[in-house]
Amino acid sequence: MHGARRNLTAAWQAKDLGQIREILSELTRDDRLLAAAACGASGEIAVETEEFPAQLACAAQLPRAQTQSGPIREMVTLPTGRVHLTALPLRHDDQMLGVILLIHDLSFLDRREGASQRFLFIAFALLSIAASLLTLLLTRGLWRRWTNTLRAQLQGGEPEADFAPVAADVRALVGQLVRERERGQQEGRWSPQRLRGVLTEHLQGERVLLVANREPYIHNRTASGSVQILHPASGLVTALEPVMRACSGVWIAHGSGSADRETVDAKNRLQVPPNDPAYWLRRVWLSEAEEQGYYYGFANEGLWPLCHLAHNRPEFRDSDFAAYREVNQRFADAVCDEAECEDPIVLVQDYHFALAPAMIRRRLPRATLITFWHIPWPNAERFGICPWHREILSGLLGSSIVGFHTQAHCNNFLEAVDRFLEARLDRENDAVIRQAKATLVRPYPISIAWPNPWATQAPSIAECRASVRAELGLAPDALLGVGVDRIDYTKGIEERLLAVEALLEAHPELVGRFVFVQLGAPSRTVIPRYRTLNDRLLELAERINQRFRRPQYQPIVFARAHHEPPTVFRYYRAAEFCYVSSLHDGMNLVAKEFVAARDDEQGVLLLSQFAGAAQELTNALIVNPYDIRQTCAAMHNALLMPSDLQRERMRSLRALVAEFNVYRWAGRMLLDAARLRERERLNQRLRQRETSEASESSRDALLWAQGPL
Ligand code: F6P
Repeated sequence: MHGARRNLTAAWQAKDLGQIREILSELTRDDRLLAAAACGASGEIAVETEEFPAQLACAAQLPRAQTQSGPIREMVTLPTGRVHLTALPLRHDDQMLGVILLIHDLSFLDRREGASQRFLFIAFALLSIAASLLTLLLTRGLWRRWTNTLRAQLQGGEPEADFAPVAADVRALVGQLVRERERGQQEGRWSPQRLRGVLTEHLQGERVLLVANREPYIHNRTASGSVQILHPASGLVTALEPVMRACSGVWIAHGSGSADRETVDAKNRLQVPPNDPAYWLRRVWLSEAEEQGYYYGFANEGLWPLCHLAHNRPEFRDSDFAAYREVNQRFADAVCDEAECEDPIVLVQDYHFALAPAMIRRRLPRATLITFWHIPWPNAERFGICPWHREILSGLLGSSIVGFHTQAHCNNFLEAVDRFLEARLDRENDAVIRQAKATLVRPYPISIAWPNPWATQAPSIAECRASVRAELGLAPDALLGVGVDRIDYTKGIEERLLAVEALLEAHPELVGRFVFVQLGAPSRTVIPRYRTLNDRLLELAERINQRFRRPQYQPIVFARAHHEPPTVFRYYRAAEFCYVSSLHDGMNLVAKEFVAARDDEQGVLLLSQFAGAAQELTNALIVNPYDIRQTCAAMHNALLMPSDLQRERMRSLRALVAEFNVYRWAGRMLLDAARLRERERLNQRLRQRETSEASESSRDALLWAQGPL
C-alpha cells in the first residue's frame, strides 16, 4: 500500500487523473477491496471506481483526515451490507492534497462466521448421534440379556446365581399383579364378589378370623320376655359386617346381650346374619369385673381419651391393665382355638386388643395378622403418657400389618415405635423391623358397603320426609337437620346444639320452621364422664328449647335411645342436612352413611374438619365444630343451598364413597397380606439357605431385599 500511496501522491501532484484511476482500479482487483475513490481537498470526488457506493461522500471524511496523520478506519452500514471504510490522507510537505477512500468488502467475514457456526453445529450433531447410538447399543445389549434371563426364569427355568433370590418371588408377584389387574379390569368397582375373589385367588380361599369387642348382633331379652336382635351403634360393626358376609369365617366378640347365652351352641357359636347365615359369631363371656377393668377401665377410660384430642384426662389403673391383659389373652386363645391351619388370616380390630397380636403370634407364628386401629393414634409425646406404652407397641408389632385411617396416624405410630422401642424403621416400605420380623404400617381409610343395603331397602324419599315430619308433629314443609351418634364427648354434640341455638338467634325467621333432631345412642354410661355428658346434653337441649319454644314447636328433638338402622336411614333421607361435629375422630362412618342414604342427590353434609372423613369428603361443608359462628353460618348455607348445587356436591360425594367402599378397604388389606405371605414363604426358603453365622442385620436386609411391597 505504501508503493500505491507514493504513486498516487505523484499522480496527484501531476494532476494526472487517468493515472490515479488506473492505480485505484489496480487496487480494487484485490478481492477484498470493493471500491475506491479519490477526493479533492475541497470535498469533491475527483475519481471513483465503478462500484463506489453513491451513499459515501468525501466531505464527511475530510475534516478528520485533515487533523489526523494516519488513516481513519471505520465500519459503515450500507443498504447492501456492512463495509469497512479506510480514509487515507495524501500529503506533500505537510500540505493536504486530498483523501483516498478505500471500501473493504466484509461479507467474507460474515460468510466465514456462518461457515464456522454451521461446522460447529454439524460437528455437535454428529457427536450427539454417535454418543446416543453407543448408549442405545449398550443398553439394548444389557436389557436383552437381563430380560432373557428373567423371562426364562419366569417361565420356570433354573435361576442363574445372580437371580436366584428374586426369581420365585418375582414370578409370584408378577402372577399376582397380573391376576389383580385382570380382576380389576373385569370387575371394576370393589364388591362382595371381588373381595371373595381375593381370598380364593390370593389366599387359598382361607376363611377369616375376626376379633372385635363389639358383636354384630346382640340378643336381648325384652320386658315382655321375647328376644330382640339389636344392630349396635358402632362404626366398626357398620364396616366389618358386610366384609364378613362376603368373606365368611368367624367373628369372635364379647357376648354382651342379656339373651346372648341362650342363643349359642355348645361351643358358644351361632350362625349370622340370623335370616341369611354367612359366617359364625363366637361369643366370649366376660365377668363383670373383667368388663369393668378391660372395657370400661383400660380401653375406654385410658386408651380412648389418650387417643382422642377431646380434653378428657385419661385414667390409668394397674388393675384395669391387668384385666385388659387377661381378656386379650382370652380372645387370643379363642382365635387359636378357631384356627384350622398353621397360618390363618386373622383380623384384629381396634384399641380393645392391642396386646392380642403378639399373644396370637406366640402360638401361631405363621399366622397373617392384620390389625386395624379404628381411632386416631396420638403423637409420641402424648402416647408416652400411658404407663404401658411399650407393652402396647410390642403387642401391636406382633401383627403382620397395622392399619390406620390416615397417614398422619401411621406417622404418629412409627414415631412412637422409634422413640420407645429397639426397632428399625424401614421408611421406604413403611415397615417396622423388629427381631427379624417385619410389620407393615399402612393407611386404609375405612368405609361402608356400597350399594348400601339399608339405603336400598329404605322407603322413598317422599315417604321418609312425610313419615318423619308426621312423627315429630311438624308441618310438611318444616326444615330438618339431623345428627346421629353414640353419646360420646368426642362427637361434639354440645357444640352442635350451641350452633343450633346461634342459628335461631341469628335467623329468627327459622324459629317455628327449623328443627334439629339428635339421634343419640347411650353408650358406656357406666363411666362417670359419659353420665355427666348425658346430663349436660339433656340440660342444654332443654335450655335451648325453653328459649325458642312456641305452641306445638320445640327446636331440638333429643332422641336419646338406641335406633335401629332403618330408623336412622329414614331420618337421613328426610333431612335438609346432617351435621357430623366430631372434635376428633378416626373416620366417622355417619358421614358416609348419610351420603349413601341420599340417592336423590339432595341434602347437605356438614362435616367437622377433625373427622378422618373430612380428608376424603371434601365436597361436604367442612367446619371447625369449636367455631360456633362458622358452624351456624354453614347450617344457614345448607338450608338455603339451591337444589342444583346440592346435587353437584352430593353427586361427587356419592361417587367417591361408591368407589372407595368397604370392600376396597378390606380388599387392599388382604392383597397386602397376600403379598406379605408370598414374601414370608420366600424368606423362609432364604433363611433355610442362609448360613447359621448370618447376622440379624443381614437377615433384615434379606427380608426386604426384594424391593418395596
Ligand atoms: O371408633 C371406634 C369404635 O370402635 C367404633 O367403631 C365404635 O363406634 C366405637 O368405637 C366403639 O363403641 P363401643 O364401645 O360401643 O363398642
